[in-house]
Amino acid sequence: MIIIKSQKETEAMREGGKILAEIMRKLGEIVLPGNNTEEINKLARKLVFDNGGVPVFEGYGDPKNPYPAAVCVSINNEIVHGVPRKDRIIREGDIVKLDIGMKYKNLITDMARTFPAGEISIEAQKLLNATRESLNEGIKKIKAGAKLSDYSQTVERYIRLQGFSVVQELVGHGVGKKLHEDPQIPNYDMHKREIILQEGMTLALEPMINAGTRYIKLLKDGWTYATKDGKLSAHFEDTVLVAKDGAEILTRI
Ligand code: MF3
Ligand code: CO
Repeated sequence: MIIIKSQKETEAMREGGKILAEIMRKLGEIVLPGNNTEEINKLARKLVFDNGGVPVFEGYGDPKNPYPAAVCVSINNEIVHGVPRKDRIIREGDIVKLDIGMKYKNLITDMARTFPAGEISIEAQKLLNATRESLNEGIKKIKAGAKLSDYSQTVERYIRLQGFSVVQELVGHGVGKKLHEDPQIPNYDMHKREIILQEGMTLALEPMINAGTRYIKLLKDGWTYATKDGKLSAHFEDTVLVAKDGAEILTRI
């Protein structure tokens, strides 16, 4: 069931999303060669609590192996859900994906960005740009009355033209009262039952794009997804509100 948010609820998400975008901006500033990924998590946790929020990834998932951090930090071939560690050091040339979800006034917003650490390769920069732009192009298709598959097709086509590939096993999602609400939002056309967007839906759109093949594997920690071929992957995510004439991006400043 897709949950339509009230005006009061969307206002809380608008506020929370702006705070989250500002937190992400600050986290991006410490994506630097020599820093470890647990330092990023420490700052993320502090900023979320200082702003009156709750980090919703902490403790998420199977109680036998709950996600242990406020932010996912995934480097290079790691696609998403990388677990921060003191002994994981960022190096010059890495691309670093940060993904964070925050509950604020009882509503959740979710966002991700890919940051370059120092100078990165031209190929890495191209992947980063393509992933960001595929999300932007997809968002242009979002409005009340539009088909969700228009979003998916737009991302898929844009990425294919750039010569990259779209991860299929991991998808975007509705968001707000819970981290993961209906509908699932693939970044490629699944030709499943069509969903027509309605005013007041709030969606986490999150293309995960690989430089090589689309195939993924789960690492031994039970959380981190990486590319099967070891090549680079990029990820951008925004929480958006479906409005009458378009999408309002909640997780940008
Ligand atoms: N943005 C990711 C998602 O929507 C983050 C989930 S990470 C987890 O699936 F740690 F909470 F699982
Ligand atoms: Co998400």
